[in-house]
Amino acid sequence: MNLNLTTKKIDTDIEIILVKNKKIKADEKILKSLNFKGKDEEAVLVLESKRIYVGCETYDADNIRIAIATAIKKFNSTNFKSLSIKAKDNLSAIIDGFELGNYTFTKYKSEKDEDQKQDKNIYIEVEVIDKKVQKEFENAVSICESVNMVRDFVNTTPEDFYPNTMANEAIRIAKENNLECKILDEDYLEENGMGAMLAVGRASRHKSKLIHLAYKPKKAKKKIVLVGKGLTYDSGGLSLKPSEFMVSMKSDKSGGCAVLGVMNTISALDLPIEVHGIVGAVENMIGGDAYKPDDVLTARNGKTIEVRNTDAEGRLVLADCLCYAQDEINDIDYIFDFATLTGACVVGVGHYTNGIMGNNHKLNYKVVHNALKSGELATTLPFNRYLKKTIKSEIADICNVSNTRYGGAITAGMFLDNFIKDENKKKWVHIDIAGPAYVESSWGYNPYGASGAGVRLAIEFIKNI
Ligand code: BES
Ligand code: ZN
Ligand code: ZN
Repeated sequence: MNLNLTTKKIDTDIEIILVKNKKIKADEKILKSLNFKGKDEEAVLVLESKRIYVGCETYDADNIRIAIATAIKKFNSTNFKSLSIKAKDNLSAIIDGFELGNYTFTKYKSEKDEDQKQDKNIYIEVEVIDKKVQKEFENAVSICESVNMVRDFVNTTPEDFYPNTMANEAIRIAKENNLECKILDEDYLEENGMGAMLAVGRASRHKSKLIHLAYKPKKAKKKIVLVGKGLTYDSGGLSLKPSEFMVSMKSDKSGGCAVLGVMNTISALDLPIEVHGIVGAVENMIGGDAYKPDDVLTARNGKTIEVRNTDAEGRLVLADCLCYAQDEINDIDYIFDFATLTGACVVGVGHYTNGIMGNNHKLNYKVVHNALKSGELATTLPFNRYLKKTIKSEIADICNVSNTRYGGAITAGMFLDNFIKDENKKKWVHIDIAGPAYVESSWGYNPYGASGAGVRLAIEFIKNI
């Protein structure tokens, strides 16, 4: 699919017509006979007038994204080659709809639809193409390409995508975008007392990697650090997951992949913000060398952790990665972590919404606001002193699981708080993306599987710093 901006009306095979508010203004008879009502996610092809009509009940950005995604799918089911649509003040939402709605994951299919898609031309008609419009176009395309890259990473199987693969992708991203890049191995983790992260990866045949990318523009005004959980597979470890919960755990690297996605776009956006991307790439497996419930681990900041469940591994990896970030980077303005951290977050807020946590209410709400603006769903989950007591340990500084079955998303967030330095307490936000990162059915303009959650949220926040 090739997206083009144009100011001229181009005679294409098909034109998309958004039907707002169910108001049908042309082709009434045909549309009636096709039983087209103009509802959201409803599209019909009218050959007589060479149009795809698609319902778009209101013109808010998310409805437009979904309408365009519905239309491009309809178009892809035909052999027509060119398509056009008129844009008003909704250019980036239209681009999101095309780019994100057109995504399919065919790596493991013997018959691929890629070739057929490649020679399709799409023209978005705008009034003028000035610098601002051109930039809006380029930025939206670049962000969507990164979201789709993240979807590809997350959808790739654990046999084909393990910590070293993730490190190699980071190196490629750094080269292509002129970023600083450090890949640290298990010797480094050992030497720096990162015993929590190290323990999680011990039973895997794949060595753990700590990835650190940095974008450092000359006139940076602020500094943000993004930390991602990169569990390339989470079997649960010795606290083994039941088989029905283990399927889809290739998606446990979504937080780390989202961080890589942001780093893949950040330099193109040309913002005066220093951005660091840190990923703990680890595989949680079983074996004679596996870490165990009852182990006590020591994290990089010296805190001891009683392990009572090896399936609560993401917080162990993040604990050390958060310590690393705060030791290595000074004068941080914001530190965010992205993780498919808890099933409890999915239970609490459903599959489509990110859980936003931290010690700074105002900042939490800012993140929610930016998430919604970017097209991601998010809500805050507030910490409280009572739940905090449930992760105390009798034998170590802290326990990796709570003693209550309720409030698991929040207790996981409060566990991480133990690894945030005092000076950064109000600068830190924890983003649990367990719900939206991977859904086993399509939703809106998101396909079955990985959605690329976190990327647009983070970029929108950084743009508005
Ligand atoms: N990766 C999982 C969380 C998860 C579950 C993500 C479902 C996406 C969908 C995490 O490592 C985990 O297993 N968490 C446990 C924590 C529990 C042992 C305290 C959970 O949520 O059950
Ligand atoms: Zn787990
Ligand atoms: Zn996990």
